[in-house]
Amino acid sequence: MTDDTATTDGPLAGKNCVVMGIQNRWSIAYAIAEALAGAGARIAVTYVDDRAKRDADALIAATPGAVGHSCNVEADEDLDALGTVLRDEFGRVDTLVHSIGYAPAAELQNRFLETSRQGWDTTLGISAYSLIAAAQRVVPLMTDGGSIITMTYLGATRAFPRYNVMGVAKAALEATVRYLAADLGEQRIRVNAISAGPIKTAAARGIPGFGDMHGQLLDNAPLKVPFGQPQVATTALFLASDAAASITGQTLFVDNGYSIMGM
Ligand SMILES: NC(=O)c1ccc[n+]([C@@H]2O[C@H](COP(=O)([O-])OP(=O)(O)OC[C@H]3O[C@@H](n4cnc5c(N)ncnc54)[C@H](O)[C@@H]3O)[C@@H](O)[C@H]2O)c1
Repeated sequence: MTDDTATTDGPLAGKNCVVMGIQNRWSIAYAIAEALAGAGARIAVTYVDDRAKRDADALIAATPGAVGHSCNVEADEDLDALGTVLRDEFGRVDTLVHSIGYAPAAELQNRFLETSRQGWDTTLGISAYSLIAAAQRVVPLMTDGGSIITMTYLGATRAFPRYNVMGVAKAALEATVRYLAADLGEQRIRVNAISAGPIKTAAARGIPGFGDMHGQLLDNAPLKVPFGQPQVATTALFLASDAAASITGQTLFVDNGYSIMGM
């Protein structure tokens, strides 16, 4: 069912990839979708609302064979509809990229001690459970193996001021990656997380301490080479490709090496 208008060469030629989480052209998902399409894949992207659809539409218009769908991961009916439309459009799915995270602003402003029950539920539901919910709809379409990729941050294992409940959600997400990898290995489906260093995006701007996190990477990471969405996107391309055929259940740091430093 692959659209013959999609690119026919490249390491992902003939592959169908779903990229969830386009907010605007600075989204990590946007760069990943461009990279996967550039490698020959046919892509489907998802966005949460009409505002995000505008930038997603620009990407779709510039990408032969690409399609887009609205999907709020808090709504089971949206997820079910996505699974149905992907089955109809693609038949088989080879790669699922989950690039979605959210915490209510109040949860990132106060002491961690003040985390609310509702804030916890919302943050972990959207940022971690949604990987399982998306996989439930897409795994049945991964009939020839597959690669599932999600986005995490060092705040999963280290305490960053005001990252708060989002750090707990990232810890849950990384554990979810390992459990899904163990569960899906028999179906030759690999599941990995990319732990990206700080990048200026809409989600990042919502974190009050983001400027300090970004400054730390620039000042202290061993590598002084450019870092941003393109570097994360090439890693996603690697994980989607057969070059990563023996890698599953891992958290790969893409952060100019910042995470290895003691000081
Ligand atoms: N930017 C960084 O510094 C950085 C670093 C490490 C990890 N990450 C992670 O990368 C991922 C993508 O973030 P980004 O930085 O590209 O920012 P972004 O704001 O462009 O992307 C976040 C996406 O989550 C989506 N989203 C939020 N609630 C949703 C819902 N209910 N249903 C569906 N989608 C929803 C938003 O619409 C948006 O598309 C997130 O998981 C984020 O935590 C970002």
